[in-house]
Amino acid sequence: MSSICLKTEIPGPRSRKFTEARHQHVSPGPFHTTPLVAAHAEGSVVTDVDGNSFLDFSSGIGVTNLGHRDPAVMQAIAKQAEKFVHTSINVVAYEGYIQLAERLNQLLPKAAPCKTFLANSGAEAVENAIKFARVKTGRQAVIAFGHAYHGRTYMAMALTAKAHPYKSGFAPFPAEVYRAPYPDFYRWPSQKEISDRSDCSNNSKLCEEVFHAFAEIASTQIGETNVAAVIIEPVAGEGGFVPAPAPFLQMLRRWCDEHGVVLIFDEVQTGFGRTGSLLACHQLDVTPDLVVMAKGLANGLPLSAVTGRADVIDAVGLGGVGGTYCGNPIACAASLAVLDRFEDPAVLAHAQEIGEILRHRLEEFSKRFRSIGETRGLGPMRAIELVSDQVTKQPDKVAAQAVVQYCYEHGLILMTCGAHGNVLRFLVPLTISNQELNEGLAVVQDALLSLE
Ligand SMILES: Cc1ncc(COP(=O)(O)O)c(C=O)c1O
Repeated sequence: MSSICLKTEIPGPRSRKFTEARHQHVSPGPFHTTPLVAAHAEGSVVTDVDGNSFLDFSSGIGVTNLGHRDPAVMQAIAKQAEKFVHTSINVVAYEGYIQLAERLNQLLPKAAPCKTFLANSGAEAVENAIKFARVKTGRQAVIAFGHAYHGRTYMAMALTAKAHPYKSGFAPFPAEVYRAPYPDFYRWPSQKEISDRSDCSNNSKLCEEVFHAFAEIASTQIGETNVAAVIIEPVAGEGGFVPAPAPFLQMLRRWCDEHGVVLIFDEVQTGFGRTGSLLACHQLDVTPDLVVMAKGLANGLPLSAVTGRADVIDAVGLGGVGGTYCGNPIACAASLAVLDRFEDPAVLAHAQEIGEILRHRLEEFSKRFRSIGETRGLGPMRAIELVSDQVTKQPDKVAAQAVVQYCYEHGLILMTCGAHGNVLRFLVPLTISNQELNEGLAVVQDALLSLE
């Protein structure tokens, strides 16, 4: 039985009516991948207000990793809602916050002892990670990377690499943010000299080249002793699902140790099974000093965390960080249920299995379709980059948008990403059945075929 079930024209009449009202009443700021208006969501399926059911390959931008309305998470939310909804950790503490911190602290055993600070959004946690690092080191400079996306608050925007639409018109940004190139080997200049790209992702020569560029910027433009933090996504998310090779991250780790710099991994999008391990760093053999988490952390409730070395987190004194809603009790209860769910080894095993299916199918697509420049990713966090010419690698944003539109019209929610908006990203629920995954991939295949 198929999960996709379209009963009306797309968008249906009720969706069109709500969308009209949205244009009238809502800021045009938040983008909309589809003109869908949700009525219900369960597992991998979103049903709209016209009764049409769509397969969801976006998971609300990589949030509902356990699927929509995971029963254990729903139960935890309901149970906490019966007790109390809010007291503010700054006024009256509660067990859920403390328990969650204790459990998150165990995620970085090599950084132990760890402590945790909870916030609401990914951007807010990023901001706070920088605050911890600056106070700890007494330094100001922060190095971020090309392709970076860290959110939309001012510091997060400054750290983000993509100008339009994230930064355009919003300057000035906070100072002392520097940028080094991200290890995107598909577009790295000297990569052209390498004829066999099959194991390019871990090519040590390229890793050294990119690291050298980083170290040169740190040394000449900033001065190592002025650097408070280096912040990087283990897989660039919005920037195009580009995995940073483990050897490169290990070089960064050694450099940070040598110069007393706080290494921050932004695992907002890569965390909670998205790459096949609970955190991406678990499979990369690198331990950051601080890890920033959000999205899948509470499977849909607004919650984020900064977890890491206790001596860094302890550097900020009483009242130095916080916020009224930080670590909301219902979100904490949901997150504890998420962590319980991940204790079942079958959850990550399934994530890895669907990662393999995706890798295999997307590689097949790339052999077949001229529009695909590269397919890449880590575990189930996978993407295909569309180009108008495989030799010049000219990014093809129009093709990516056409695929997303085709998919939507045929019952599949899919998103783009990438510095040039030409990357199709697969953020499937990690609990998706193989049958649903294949059903969605068949739509993607037809969409790619329609480009030929
Ligand atoms: C890697 C990364 N960091 C930070 C953020 C910002 O998170 P939020 O949108 O919850 O502020 C995102 C959001 O997509 C992200 O992918």
